[in-house]
Amino acid sequence: MNPALKSQILAAGEAAVATAARTLAGGGLVAFPTETVYGLGADAANPAAIARLYQAKGRPAFNPLIAHVGDLAAANKIARFDADALKLAKAFWPGPLTLVLPKTEGCTVADLATAGLDTVAVRVPAHPVARDILRAFGGPVVAPSANLSGHVSPTTAAHVEHDLAGLIDLIIDGGPVEVGVESTIVGCFEQPTLLRPGGVPREDIERVLGRALAQAPREADADSAQPLAPGMLASHYAPRTRVRLDAEDVAPGEALLAFGLHRLHGADRAVAIMNLSAERDLAEAAANLFGYLRSLDAKGATTIAVMPIPDEGLGEAINDRLRRAALGRA
Ligand code: TXA
Ligand code: MG
Repeated sequence: MNPALKSQILAAGEAAVATAARTLAGGGLVAFPTETVYGLGADAANPAAIARLYQAKGRPAFNPLIAHVGDLAAANKIARFDADALKLAKAFWPGPLTLVLPKTEGCTVADLATAGLDTVAVRVPAHPVARDILRAFGGPVVAPSANLSGHVSPTTAAHVEHDLAGLIDLIIDGGPVEVGVESTIVGCFEQPTLLRPGGVPREDIERVLGRALAQAPREADADSAQPLAPGMLASHYAPRTRVRLDAEDVAPGEALLAFGLHRLHGADRAVAIMNLSAERDLAEAAANLFGYLRSLDAKGATTIAVMPIPDEGLGEAINDRLRRAALGRA
């Protein structure tokens, strides 16, 4: 972080929420906590604000944004819900689920935010500070994760400051987030389709739907100009240090991202060790994931070796982010 660059930082509370709403209404950029990760918010109906947002993040403009709204009634104004979408919204909102749906005629979300698609991604976040800001602002707020494009998502206000200080107007500090990985994204087309694993495990969604989710192609080619499904940019979540998955030992010079108490050969000479969850609790591991990747990235190790993590429940989202981290940056 460049110490000369500053953004206003306010502790969450009534005054901060009012300032956030005013800043958004004026076309400003506000980082705020959601239950998944910190988001960088802009007025979804203001193309100039959205252009600044893409610029601040250094994000390719073909990667569309999620519109955050306060409740299902507000979501209905911008997106068309079929029976499956309605079931999912009722079961999981507010919460870490994003639905990609056809836009309504009157959808106020700017084309720039949907990258010109005729669909829109919508989510009702559960975090009380996010909800208060949405209520005070009174319209949809687009919010990607509040990190520089290509960096891991921020789970604390300090992470946001590290990436975006001086590039955005305001940071609302609501403490560390609870879930730690981004929302699950489901496209409600003919077949409900998993576009991104995330904070709601696939199994829970399939239970509510009464059938299996179709699977979007897992990894788009990072170099292709047209991602297979937007948001599937393979190298989205990369630390600078190389990442090695399914490690069964630790080589000299490596840092270790552990899971559980099994002791790997060579662990005693690791440059640094952080344990996602000694108890092998996947929710705890998800909450720790991005913060620990950031910390280990700063240790000067040659590689971050990552122990295997079961691919069930939240493990699917964790492994998805780790695979992207291992692919390196585009
Ligand atoms: O948990 C989250 O979802 C966080 C918090 C801040 O809400 N937000 C987040 O936003 O992760 P972002 O921009 O980092 O990821 C949004 C993903 C992108 O990968 C984007 O391509 C996809 O959603 N997306 C948005 N609109 C879409 C659309 N119409 N069709 C397909 N994918 C879409
Ligand atoms: Mg992101």
